[in-house]
Amino acid sequence: MQAIEITQQILKNYSMACVPNAMATAFAPVNIALCKYWGKRDSNLNLPMTSSLSISLDKLGALTQLTYLNSNLNSKNNNSDEIHLNQTRIANTEVFAERIINFLNLFRPNFSGVFRVDTKINIPVSAGLASSAAGFAALTLALNKLFGWNLSVRALSILARLGSGSACRSIEKGFIKWERGTRKDGMDSFAHKLNYAWEELQIGLLMISKAPKAISSRDAMKKTVETSILYTAWEKQVDHDLGLLEQAIAHHDFRLLGETVEANALAMHATMLSAREAICYFQPETIACIQKIWALRKTGLNLYFTQDAGPNLKLLFLKKDKADVLMHFPGLIKARE
Ligand code: PMV
Repeated sequence: MQAIEITQQILKNYSMACVPNAMATAFAPVNIALCKYWGKRDSNLNLPMTSSLSISLDKLGALTQLTYLNSNLNSKNNNSDEIHLNQTRIANTEVFAERIINFLNLFRPNFSGVFRVDTKINIPVSAGLASSAAGFAALTLALNKLFGWNLSVRALSILARLGSGSACRSIEKGFIKWERGTRKDGMDSFAHKLNYAWEELQIGLLMISKAPKAISSRDAMKKTVETSILYTAWEKQVDHDLGLLEQAIAHHDFRLLGETVEANALAMHATMLSAREAICYFQPETIACIQKIWALRKTGLNLYFTQDAGPNLKLLFLKKDKADVLMHFPGLIKARE
């Protein structure tokens, strides 16, 4: 099934012939997976092999301004969109712009015209910090505003997923669970907010490298699913971890949360290391920081980490330990406080 069939199905009751607003702006937060999404069962629709669970970093994310430039151009696959990132025009041949234009094309069958997309992202792009998730979620929210669709959170989550899988978890803020779903068309694969709050839970970003990743998460996932002998074990671990995480979040059990989050991230990286050829997002400094965290934990500091498709680490700790954590990691970027 093609992604365009899904957008048309969701928008079948909406006329796109008229644009009520010339411009719309929306913000979407970065989300950090506590239980990771790693592997697609359908790569056109970004349908996951497993469910996943994340927490949003409410102040970090993407602010996207969408301007409808011209309704007279006759195009269904328009390459004349203008894509700007952090106030710099990106050539339409670059992957970043191409992905956005392809996403906009999914909404274009019923009207002609081009957009200017201005995205401001306050974290490094393509360094495993989930900037694309925030970007596609903000773009989806901006489209919804521009056209006045008033879509449900579920529909917005499904649409954002078509841009980037984990973007479906950036439509709302808080603890978010993305249900795997079983349907072929993915209409039951969307993210929803879990009804929990945890004020004391803090997250900091430990920047190890701002360089773009060597292999995209899309390619890395494909290779892992196809070649890793550990993949079936990973699917079982996710089921187990999701239960533990919900329990930890509901009871504010930080130790259970930290242990589960860390084990989940390491298991995901183990599946990649066992792929052929091996995929390795660790840098020597990543390992050094992990060992420092483990050593600090032995001294009694309640500090855990998670790592996505890049060398950078996200540290999890409680508000009461913030001063201690900052003393050991002075360069830590405060992401959730
Ligand atoms: O949605 P993508 O294609 O950027 O993949 C995200 C993959 C991880 O960040 C490693 C895990 C996750 O669940 O966010």
